[in-house]
Amino acid sequence: MKILITGGAGFIGSHTAVALNEAGMIPVLIDNFSNSEKSALEGIKKITGKVFDFYEGDCNDIEFLRKVFSDHHIDGIIHFAASKAVGESVENPLKYYENNVGSIFTMIHVMREFNVKKLVFSSSCTVYGEPDYIPVDENAARKPANSPYGNTKAIAEDILSDLVKSGEDLQIISLRYFNPIGAHESGEIGELPSGVPSNLVPFITQTAIGKRSKLTIFGNDYNTQDGSNIRDFIHVVDLANAHIAALKYTQKKNGPFYDVFNIGTGRGNSVLELIKTFEKVNQLKLNYEIGPRRPGDTVKIYGDVSKANKLLNWKTEKSLEDALKDAWNWELKLAGSK
Ligand code: UD1
Repeated sequence: MKILITGGAGFIGSHTAVALNEAGMIPVLIDNFSNSEKSALEGIKKITGKVFDFYEGDCNDIEFLRKVFSDHHIDGIIHFAASKAVGESVENPLKYYENNVGSIFTMIHVMREFNVKKLVFSSSCTVYGEPDYIPVDENAARKPANSPYGNTKAIAEDILSDLVKSGEDLQIISLRYFNPIGAHESGEIGELPSGVPSNLVPFITQTAIGKRSKLTIFGNDYNTQDGSNIRDFIHVVDLANAHIAALKYTQKKNGPFYDVFNIGTGRGNSVLELIKTFEKVNQLKLNYEIGPRRPGDTVKIYGDVSKANKLLNWKTEKSLEDALKDAWNWELKLAGSK
């Protein structure tokens, strides 16, 4: 199977390219480098020993997509390419609706033109907002989004679901990711946030290495065991493997369908627990302080992942410790290469 990965140089995209190769599938990568770097392609090459076809361009550019689809017989698409900074989406909503929703339209048009049926879409547990129960399963109500970013994921899910409902011959899976962290154990690929990271783990590793003076924990007065937020932190390699499982699932199914799956560990860890684990496994002290709550943060969420375990025949294999060791190893490699 030849699989198009949009956002192939990104954090999850690059790990998924490696996972596809391991599964005997052939990735074709596209990326516009809006939030990624060419070095990720080098990393993929180092790990796999292969150079995969790569195209630089934008998923909203239909002529660009037509060229890629003309050059290759694409059997399926994993659509990662999107903007993902929550704060920026509040300031510049149009960018988010154009990139994240607009690219769904171009992708579907090109899929129709080239008779491609399979699509795996990157959604987010953000669609649950503050869930009514945890672990949250796929039947839980989606809540009104608290940012344009979150809204783009809910809208994209609805568009894809409506297309299948209307009778389009498509096989579409939305994967609702919890919090991906870590890096490939080789240290050749990992997360490369541009500017000041807004996500927790890159901020931690950059603080530990001295790029940032200290980490601020956004609130320790929540109604949780230690007062900090609870998240479901999943190793990015486990998350990447879920995409392979999703593609295999489409191969087994006959006919059109749309479905959603939670992709997490099924465990909740607090922000403070994560920091303590990071310190312990890497034997260092992190400079951190407690600050005010970050507006819009969910208090506690982790996923019930039994649907993906059962139907996709997928499960996580790596621990929080593995992820935090790999994240630190990646930061050390980055520091060494500069
Ligand atoms: C956020 C988005 C989520 C999105 C994901 C993609 C919100 C509410 N959710 O997830 O929709 O899919 O990013 O990137 O923004 N934290 C600190 N200090 C920091 C950074 C983070 O204490 O410097 C805490 C946060 O308060 C949160 C946890 O760490 O409790 C995780 O934060 P983060 O990595 O930004 O992810 P989410 O907020 O869960």
